[in-house]
Amino acid sequence: MNLDRFLCKQANYSRKVVLRLLSQQQVKVDGNIVHHRSTPITEFSRIEVQGKTIQYATPRYYMLNKPAGILSATTDPVHPTALELFTGMETADLHIAGRLDRATTGLLIVTNNGKWSRKLTELKPIGTLQIPKVYLVETAYALSPTTAQRFAEGIYFKTEDVTTSPAQLEVISEKISRLTIYEGRYHQVKRMYAAVGNRVVALHREKVGKITLDPKLKLGEFRALTEQEVGWV
Ligand code: URA
Repeated sequence: MNLDRFLCKQANYSRKVVLRLLSQQQVKVDGNIVHHRSTPITEFSRIEVQGKTIQYATPRYYMLNKPAGILSATTDPVHPTALELFTGMETADLHIAGRLDRATTGLLIVTNNGKWSRKLTELKPIGTLQIPKVYLVETAYALSPTTAQRFAEGIYFKTEDVTTSPAQLEVISEKISRLTIYEGRYHQVKRMYAAVGNRVVALHREKVGKITLDPKLKLGEFRALTEQEVGWV
């Protein structure tokens, strides 16, 4: 968005007034007087008009250890939602970057920075580096010896007519495995195991890219991301 659009559309100034304020050096963006109405701004630019701050939001980033039974949603009339766990703070501007199913536990990333979360969740063009997501998976049946190979080759999803990117399976025990996938398709992990004749009974996200669920966080607890965790995206 540019300054002109913000001042007219969101702050209700007329275009004529905007031009006058700019020519009178009455508009500041991030502490600097600006002269051009086309000055680019973001939702986190600090905008001052005649000495009064009219927009100032700080980007916020959190990780939550999501418990089972909690919806990855901002509001829901029936089920408790992940954002309801962020007690004692403003949550109206927060959203979830990469949902988990209601029964899934583990790393859920929450932010108010839409540009940042899009980079984290969007499917990158084929051939570019995708963001790995790591899940600990418990299955109903023992893992078959061919599962790792099948996942590495990619599983065909008829609904979307796509084959999943090569995924890595680490077998931990008969029914426990760690899976790394590179997309976030609808019920992807469950559908992959179902495609090889198994069934997921427990799913826990451990890691997204370079953000690892903090082992100090108990289920339902959250913390702010560190600068490093925010910065790699
Ligand atoms: N894949 C699933 O099937 N469920 C999740 O919650 C996350 C990935």
